[in-house]
Amino acid sequence: MVIGAPHETRMTSGTSQTDVTYLPRHPLRISVANQKGGVGKTSTVVNVAAVLAHKFKMDVLVVDLDPQGHASLALGLERVSTEFSISAALTSYKPVKEIIRETPIDKLHVLPSNEDLAATEEYISRQPGREAVVSKLIESLPMRYDFIIIDTPPNLGVLTFNALYASKFVLVPIQPRYFSIDGLRRLYHVIELLHSRLRAELEVLGHFLTMVDNRYKITHEIRQDLRHRLGESLLRTEIPSSVRLEEGHFLGRPCVIYNPDSPVSKAYEALTVEILERIGSHSRSITAGVGGVEGESKLFQLGVDKTV
Ligand SMILES: Nc1ncnc2c1ncn2[C@@H]1O[C@H](COP(=O)(O)OP(=O)(O)OP(=O)(O)O)[C@@H](O)[C@H]1O
Ligand SMILES: [Mg+2]
Repeated sequence: MVIGAPHETRMTSGTSQTDVTYLPRHPLRISVANQKGGVGKTSTVVNVAAVLAHKFKMDVLVVDLDPQGHASLALGLERVSTEFSISAALTSYKPVKEIIRETPIDKLHVLPSNEDLAATEEYISRQPGREAVVSKLIESLPMRYDFIIIDTPPNLGVLTFNALYASKFVLVPIQPRYFSIDGLRRLYHVIELLHSRLRAELEVLGHFLTMVDNRYKITHEIRQDLRHRLGESLLRTEIPSSVRLEEGHFLGRPCVIYNPDSPVSKAYEALTVEILERIGSHSRSITAGVGGVEGESKLFQLGVDKTV
């Protein structure tokens, strides 16, 4: 699948058909971020990446920027030693092409991490141009990917800055719990800083609910509240709570691959389609010259209520 191929490119997957005529030229770089821990960032990265690669036949690279290395493990890799981890590429110890690993899923590669990435983060934070290290790494990739999906750690440190600076879009998973959006103001602040100080091109592609259990009244209350606050920026797809995801991590196979018919896999497929549609309509609006009003916050254009 070549994104941005001249005109009328279409892709199909089972029952879903998505027009990607307007997807911009490659590669699309998306971070999944929320400094709150355990909200489903990694599960989203591996399942969306697997849908893109397996169902839509895209070339996808997952960049594991979390020292926990969960994305690498969830994609079926053994723990890697530091000299074969992303740390080696970030510190210029090895060229990135020697670090990229294939996964059991065709067309899906990963830049794996391990716990030494925490020390690498400290090293990077002492370097000039520290926010752009991952961006530079991506520029030096030896092959062309359609999508680069970056998993981020549960904090707003230098690794997350790097992920956001290297990305065109950020996706924000939110658990439907009280206080679950409290920390988002800080994430938005970081994004604003990246815009104002570093002229980053990052935009919030959308927020979405994860681990949704509709048996609880609070789920409905929080959904309503988020709809009110986030408007269009809250994606319509929700990821249900399901033990299948945990099983997938344990097996080293994304749930969408090992149990594609489960409701949670269908939800991740729908989320991927919605993401593609958003990116498509975003590009269309740029093409039509209605991408935004000069001086207006990009977050505001995307309907993010900054009082969140
Ligand atoms: N939709 C879901 N239903 C049930 N369990 C889930 C769901 N999504 C993720 N989990 C489980 O919740 C835990 C945290 O998920 P995950 O690792 O994706 O979150 P994270 O935001 O990446 O965490 P961290 O901040 O530590 O990196 C994991 O055990 C995962 O299997
Ligand atoms: Mg994670």
